[in-house]
Amino acid sequence: MPVIAFANSKGGSGKTTSALLLAQALAAHRPTTLIDADPRHPITTWAEKEGRPETLTVVTNTSEKTILDEIEEAAARDPFVIIDLEGTASRLMSYAISQADLVVIPMKEQQQDALAALDVIEEIHRDMKATRRRIPYAVLFTQSRAAVKSRTARHISAQFRDNDRIDCFTTEIHERDAFAAMFSIGGTVAGMSPDLVNGLDKALENIEAFRAEVIAKLRAIRDGQEGRAA
Ligand SMILES: Nc1ncnc2c1ncn2[C@@H]1O[C@H](COP(=O)(O)OP(=O)(O)OP(=O)(O)O)[C@@H](O)[C@H]1O
Ligand SMILES: [Mg+2]
Repeated sequence: MPVIAFANSKGGSGKTTSALLLAQALAAHRPTTLIDADPRHPITTWAEKEGRPETLTVVTNTSEKTILDEIEEAAARDPFVIIDLEGTASRLMSYAISQADLVVIPMKEQQQDALAALDVIEEIHRDMKATRRRIPYAVLFTQSRAAVKSRTARHISAQFRDNDRIDCFTTEIHERDAFAAMFSIGGTVAGMSPDLVNGLDKALENIEAFRAEVIAKLRAIRDGQEGRAA
């Protein structure tokens, strides 16, 4: 039932990759729908390859006119609905945000991504006014280095983490072979062969930590306990 939208108007910020990682992790436990509203349809292309779990339904969105119905149908059917949005601010993005129980804002630790993330946060606040309801959101750092961060990366992430008005995931999605490889190989990270991809154990730990944190946030939101999201 919860609807989780991935939004950042900056291209390449990691929306599609993190949305698919979360969808795979959730689908290992409960039926999940992933709505592919990225106009290049990378998730639909992924789903056409072998290895998509049966518990993961992919819905291909082609128009802003149908997105609200697609979200409603998926939410009535499955315990989790994830929406991967395009890399530009659009009416489709607003529609999806207006239906979301949680908006995840993926960003690289780079200035352009940071500015776009702030734009999305402003957009979410406008959508909250328009819909007169709270829309929880949280920033997710993506493509980050698992080892030592650069000074710039540390500076940018600190600006968000030190701001108590902006909720940030503790978990970061690290830059990993496995996360790029799933789009060319197909299937899930859990189903990959360790002979083909480096660092699978760490990749799986990273996905599981993200799944657990999303679930914890959704519980807190449901119980009205989330602190900083609005
Ligand atoms: N955690 C990661 N590890 C390795 N590669 C990654 C990771 N996240 C993203 N990438 C790579 O970076 C590129 C952009 O990522 P992605 O497509 O997820 O971004 P996006 O925000 O969906 O972009 P767009 O706005 O164009 O839809 C892709 O080539 C993807 O494979
Ligand atoms: Mg994308």
